[in-house]
Amino acid sequence: MKNIDIIDILTNGKDYEGKSVVVAGWARTARDSKTMAFVALNDGTSLRHLQIVIDKARLDAHDLARCLKNGASLLVEGTVVPAMNQGDYEINADTIELLGDCPQDYPLQKKYHSLEFLRTIPHLRVRTNTFNAMLRVRSKLSFAIHRFFQENGYTYIHTPIITGSDCEGAGEIFHVTTHSCNSAKLSKDEAEYMANDFFKRKAGLTVSGQLEGEVAAMAMGKIYTFGPTFRAENSNTPRHAAEFWQVEPEVAFAKLPDIIEIAEKMIKSIIKAVLDECPEEIAFFEKAFESGLREKLTSVVESEFKVLDYSEAIEILKKSDEKFVYPVEWGLDLQSEHERYITEKVFNKPVFVINYPKHIKSFYMKQNDDGKTVAATDLLVPGVGEIIGCSEREADYDKLKQAMVERNMNLDDYVGYMDLRKYGSVPHSGFGLGLERIMMYVTGIANIRDVQLYARTTGDLM
Ligand code: 4AD
Ligand code: MG
Repeated sequence: MKNIDIIDILTNGKDYEGKSVVVAGWARTARDSKTMAFVALNDGTSLRHLQIVIDKARLDAHDLARCLKNGASLLVEGTVVPAMNQGDYEINADTIELLGDCPQDYPLQKKYHSLEFLRTIPHLRVRTNTFNAMLRVRSKLSFAIHRFFQENGYTYIHTPIITGSDCEGAGEIFHVTTHSCNSAKLSKDEAEYMANDFFKRKAGLTVSGQLEGEVAAMAMGKIYTFGPTFRAENSNTPRHAAEFWQVEPEVAFAKLPDIIEIAEKMIKSIIKAVLDECPEEIAFFEKAFESGLREKLTSVVESEFKVLDYSEAIEILKKSDEKFVYPVEWGLDLQSEHERYITEKVFNKPVFVINYPKHIKSFYMKQNDDGKTVAATDLLVPGVGEIIGCSEREADYDKLKQAMVERNMNLDDYVGYMDLRKYGSVPHSGFGLGLERIMMYVTGIANIRDVQLYARTTGDLM
């Protein structure tokens, strides 16, 4: 007899009532009384557990004792019956087979464990309610992202993970090399070092799929990438990971207002999907991490996002009474404290800040006619700050080249990218949404380390 998903019994209990079924899972908790024992069984298909009711007289006491341990894996055969709680179902066990014992040193013995503690056992923290709910929301959110783009005529493109360019120009690249420490020492200079390396030139893990995404968009029109990106950012913050997932649409013929509209539609569509498909998880996060979460997310779906000029944002920040750690001046980048002030205290909803000074932004952004700013926007949301980096791209060959020269970039590394401006160039725009950032926003989990299966941050490779 094949085991049935626990979610199936919990949601369609009536269909199974009185029938004998097999379920399998891990004992989240076990309670023992004189004549009866109870196991809360979870198989990962639902946040809720299935209660297994055991009449102790019917089972061998020694065998049963080994099953009644937190974390033990069990195969249970029994009858589905209505539970005391109206509408719920449970199992009256006929047999219980211990699949895997779980000795007393199993670390998850308490009802609550701090997220900090759980980070020390990434291989086991997935067995908590928080990670059960987080991983399901992450899966639903990812699928909703694909659905949004697929239903709107975008082609999904797999851009390379190993690249020879630095899209964001920030030098936060993880190098890819086959050199060991010793062979590196044996090279007399960089040229010799490179000549002996795998690609015969500098290679790194991609920080963004954008540059190759643009290549695809110049033939396919509307594309998106969705994959892992890597940054050797030495910032030990709750919002930065060295490995994170990005969704990056790139749209031919779109200008800044068009891409802003697409980004807003996408955010609303994927948040609505999570609200519709993960009501139990959202209720859980609301209780455990952020009160008012459902209302916040519902209002995002219904509200109109604010569009705010960078220069106006600077004025607002300058006029505020808030004591900021970092200076506020036209020309300086907005720090997380500024972003959060604007989105949390001033507007209390998602805000697109547009038209940033060109020298604080990337080389590929379209230069505005004022000569000072670029057609770029960051989407800021309460509680997290920036979740999207977005811009219209510079489609003019000479202007792009000039911006690259000003940044001392090696033009030889970007010949293909510049060719896009030479052969049939068109206006185009795109953005990058950090999957972990939107996960933090949707779940209320405040640290990026807790919205990934394994967190990759400086000094931490568990
Ligand atoms: O703003 P960023 O650097 O933009 C780009 O990479 C563009 N090439 C995207 C594009 O236009 N196709 O990064 C985009 C988003 C950020 O808004 C943030 O959500 C996320 O990626 N992000 C990070 N998330 C986690 N950890 C980090 N270290 C991140 N750096 C960026
Ligand atoms: Mg950015």
